[in-house]
Amino acid sequence: MNRLLNIAQIGDPVLREPTTELTPDLLAQAEMQQFIDDLIETMRAAKGAGLAANQVHQSLRICAIEVRDNPRYPYRPNIPLTILVNPVLTPVGEDMFENYEGCLSVPNLRGIVHRHSVVDVSAMDRNGAPIQTRVKGMIAATYQHEVDHLNGLLFLDRVGDSRSLVTWENFERYHLQQVAENVGKVVAQYGS
Ligand code: NI
Repeated sequence: MNRLLNIAQIGDPVLREPTTELTPDLLAQAEMQQFIDDLIETMRAAKGAGLAANQVHQSLRICAIEVRDNPRYPYRPNIPLTILVNPVLTPVGEDMFENYEGCLSVPNLRGIVHRHSVVDVSAMDRNGAPIQTRVKGMIAATYQHEVDHLNGLLFLDRVGDSRSLVTWENFERYHLQQVAENVGKVVAQYGS
């Protein structure tokens, strides 16, 4: 049986503490595999695009990512379910783009963050198999948001212009259309 985990909110020290790398042995344990299932279940129930282990009070370098026709992000391309263990991201080139982000640990606030357009990913999957891949565009932005969590950062730390901060209601009222157009351009350029 999977269970829903409590999501830490901004101000909770767990979001700022360093997270611990997993060994393949620890990853293989039944309790850890159950935790990963719970992480996925919690992400889906909260309609997040991703969820990091330390957002549910486990200071471990694991995150889940998935976008599947997400009503919180109606303009976003889908991302298949991905578990990253001990992820390391390396930006490729200088290209960056503006991404309007929100977070399950930051209630009712969104803001513009600059993200690398292309990043190389080195990680393990939930079975300990190596992941070596390159991600682009909106997928790259999501990976960066989640790995930031594992490094104790929130998207708010990277908002360059605090005037971009909006409530979700005002995002939908004043910004959704423009953001959907901008995301469309990113997807056209980078394929995701
Ligand atoms: Ni987040």
